[in-house]
Amino acid sequence: MNPHETPSQPRGEPAIRTIAMPADANPAGDIFGGWLMAQMDLAAGNVAARRARSRCATVSVDRITFLRPVYIGDEVSLYADIVRVGRSSMTIQVEAWRRSRDGEEQVKVTDASFVFVALDQGGRPRVIDPVSGPQAEH
Ligand SMILES: CC(C)(COP(=O)(O)OP(=O)(O)OC[C@H]1O[C@@H](n2cnc3c(N)ncnc32)[C@H](O)[C@@H]1OP(=O)(O)O)[C@@H](O)C(=O)NCCC(=O)NCCS
Repeated sequence: MNPHETPSQPRGEPAIRTIAMPADANPAGDIFGGWLMAQMDLAAGNVAARRARSRCATVSVDRITFLRPVYIGDEVSLYADIVRVGRSSMTIQVEAWRRSRDGEEQVKVTDASFVFVALDQGGRPRVIDPVSGPQAEH
C-alpha cells in the first residue's frame, strides 16, 4: 500500500472507545474539534503513563489534521502508538476513527503526533526506564 494512502481499517486495539454525544457538538451540529482533541490527549496520556509508569504531561501536539467530520451518536475509537522514547519524553502517534451507530464501516477522522514527558512527584521530568515486551515501542 502507498504509505500516504489512508488504510481502510485501524491497526491494533483502541486505547479509548467512546460515543460522541449532543453536548460535544459545535453550533453547526457536528462534533467540536476540541472535544476530539481532548479524547486524543486522553488516549495518548493513558498509553504514556502506562509506558513510563508515572504521571506524564503533554508538552506538544504536532500536525493535528481533521480529515472527516464526526457526528452525534458516532462511536469514536482512539488508537495511540508510541513511536519514540527519549530520555524523559515519548512521541505518540494518535488516530481517531468513527463508526456510525448503525454501521460497520470505520473511517479515520483525525491524526496527530503528541509528545508527553514523564514526571516525578515534584512535576519535574524523570528518566523513562527501558522496557521490553508488549509495551515496547515500535
Ligand atoms: C513538561 C515540562 C515539565 C518539561 O519541562 P522542561 O523544562 O521543558 O524540561 P526539559 O527541557 O528537561 O525537557 C524534557 C523533555 O521534553 C522534551 N520537550 C520539551 N519541550 C518540548 C517541545 N515543545 N516539543 C517536544 N519535546 C519537548 C525535551 O526534548 C526533553 O525530552 P528528552 O528528555 O526525551 O530528551 C514543562 O514544560 C511543563 O510543565 N509543561 C506544562 C505541561 C502541561 O501542563 N501540560 C498540559 C497542558 S494542557
